[in-house]
Amino acid sequence: MRLNMLAPVIVALAACAGNGKPAAADIARAQALRPDDARLAERYERSCMGCHAVDGSGAPLTGFAPQWKPLAGKGMEQLVDHAFEGFKAMPARGLCNDCNRDDLRDLIRFMSGGAAA
Ligand code: HEC
Repeated sequence: MRLNMLAPVIVALAACAGNGKPAAADIARAQALRPDDARLAERYERSCMGCHAVDGSGAPLTGFAPQWKPLAGKGMEQLVDHAFEGFKAMPARGLCNDCNRDDLRDLIRFMSGGAAA
């Protein structure tokens, strides 16, 4: 089989990847997004962003609704608890030691693109 005959197959496989897998544009957007508030943006940049704007880290991608919508069902306070205490591979306070629960709640609202409100 000639190599260029594979192209439609690859395109079809890429189209199937709609099952929660971010595309390059989603990852680029996650890396560009910042909270509006400068104080929160500083906390986000030095903690959450190191995992949540990186594809393949296992962390739900910032601003990528398909990965946040299922988590939103846990309810905001449960997500804040998990962020504060740590959850599986997610470290306590997301490595932001000066983040309080209100900061974490605002960061989660921002990172989930409003999916968790
Ligand atoms: C060292 C990497 C890392 C950093 C830094 C990090 N996270 Fe996470 N986070 C993860 C991973 C990995 C998961 C997925 C955990 C799992 O479900 O296995 C996660 C999951 C979460 C979840 C979903 C928890 C749930 O109940 O499913 C929230 C909310 C969250 N992170 C918030 C934050 C916030 C806010 C920050 C910054 C203050 C942050 N994270 C920083 C790695 C990180």
